[in-house]
Amino acid sequence: SAAPAPATLVGALDQGTTSTRFILFDAATGTPVASHQVTHDQHYPHPGWVEHDPLEILKCAEQCIDGAVAEGGVDVATVKAIGITNQRETTVVWDKESGQPLCNAIVWLDTRTRSTCEKLRERIDVERVRKLCGLPISTYFSGVKLRWLMDHRPAVKEALDAGTALFGTIDTWLVWNLGGRTTHATDVTNAGRTMLMDIHTLDWNDELIAAVGVPRSCLPTIRSCAESYGKMAGTVLKGVPISGVVGDQQAALVGQSCLRVGEAKATYGTGCFLIVNTGDTPVFSSKGLLTTPAYKLGPTSPAVYALEGSIAIAGAAISWLKDNLHLIHTAHEVEGLASSVKDAGDVYFVPAFSGLFAPRWRQDARGTIVGLTQYTTAAHIVRATLEAIAFQVMEVLRAVGEDLHSSGVTAAAGGGGNSGGGGGAEASDSDGSFKSSDTTSFIREVRVDGGASVNNLLMQMQADLVGAPVLRPVVVETTALGAAFAAGLAEGVFDSAESLREKWRLDRRFVPEITPDERARRIGKWEMAVQRSLGWIE
Ligand code: G3P
Repeated sequence: SAAPAPATLVGALDQGTTSTRFILFDAATGTPVASHQVTHDQHYPHPGWVEHDPLEILKCAEQCIDGAVAEGGVDVATVKAIGITNQRETTVVWDKESGQPLCNAIVWLDTRTRSTCEKLRERIDVERVRKLCGLPISTYFSGVKLRWLMDHRPAVKEALDAGTALFGTIDTWLVWNLGGRTTHATDVTNAGRTMLMDIHTLDWNDELIAAVGVPRSCLPTIRSCAESYGKMAGTVLKGVPISGVVGDQQAALVGQSCLRVGEAKATYGTGCFLIVNTGDTPVFSSKGLLTTPAYKLGPTSPAVYALEGSIAIAGAAISWLKDNLHLIHTAHEVEGLASSVKDAGDVYFVPAFSGLFAPRWRQDARGTIVGLTQYTTAAHIVRATLEAIAFQVMEVLRAVGEDLHSSGVTAAAGGGGNSGGGGGAEASDSDGSFKSSDTTSFIREVRVDGGASVNNLLMQMQADLVGAPVLRPVVVETTALGAAFAAGLAEGVFDSAESLREKWRLDRRFVPEITPDERARRIGKWEMAVQRSLGWIE
């Protein structure tokens, strides 16, 4: 009998804050068949500063691609397309002739741009900025990082003035290099995090560019998430089309197939990012959420928008317990140690290492641990760290509920796909509509992914604190899957987004187990702890 036809594969390069991965998926099933991961160095030259070496990141990307293909014994002819997904906002400036970066990349978490932001607030009204680009004025976004470089790194300023330098986020840097230095482009999801893109037209906005004070000529072209960005110029995959670019959090939304209004996901990585699909018109937040493009799956496809709650420190707090305090040796110990105590012993940890992002946007906050006594052990602190992640997501979800409630957006009927049932009793009324009382929100359930989503204790805490079911899929590599899907869509490997939806499979559903009174009590204590973290930086 004839040998089975070789599988069709689509790949994704996932360049994250702490590591880079390349994963190849079987297009028919959405199952990962080969992958390779490499971590890169974090540079902390001053308190609040975080840098990456762009050349190291490029080297890691190439290593991951070659490594995955070699280790997986992959026939390169079966790889039809590659997508790139990335840590967003991280800012790179390089010389367009030599290809050399003009400085280290300023990472999204870096807070050095506080005074840049303050000066910007004197030039342009915060509400005007939000209306134009959907974002608050914050150290988080790449436009202010670019401006900081112009103000503080003379070589960058000179090169930009002379027109010899290019600006990009990590997607742009990788596309430019991996594609043979011909394409200077970004996608709507990454451009939407610069504070320079018009959220309606999805093009650069002159008023914002003038206010931030950066040259338009150094900015990349903005494209959709699923179209040709060139071909791989090197590695074993030379010649394979690069056909998808999506910021990592939006890629996870796609990978979770949250493609209908009201569907939401939370990704637990370095930070934690909750995104809810709001459909074809941007919804503006009055509760500290970001309005952001969710995806645009082709040059002529409509853009879909989202509300996002960005939490700066989630998994990074666990890394901090390990690397800085040496309370644990590996992240795998966390669940066992945290489960060895029945509660956090009244300890609350607000990991505001980079200030607080959504929904509070307080640059003046710093990390705080309260409630310590001689009874407190490492286990209590570890458990409080997990709770801190869950509390922050709860706050964001409350904000989403309030924003969507007041904007009048209604969710698509049916919701959850293969999620194994409708919303929990506390999250939705019997007719499936949403109420916004207690901690419940518009969202009937949350799909979860990312490294810490394997932690069952954390996921149970999450369901308890949000008062709604938390659904973990079998494939938690959703970020890479979303980018691979975008690339495959552009190359005709998939014909519609529905083909992705069919592949989503539930691993485990966590339902709330605490009473509303208990939830309210814990949230009250968390709020007291947060208040103590504010105002630390003058
Ligand atoms: O906005 C920053 C975000 O894209 C970083 O994601 O997964 O590297 O924590 P991650």
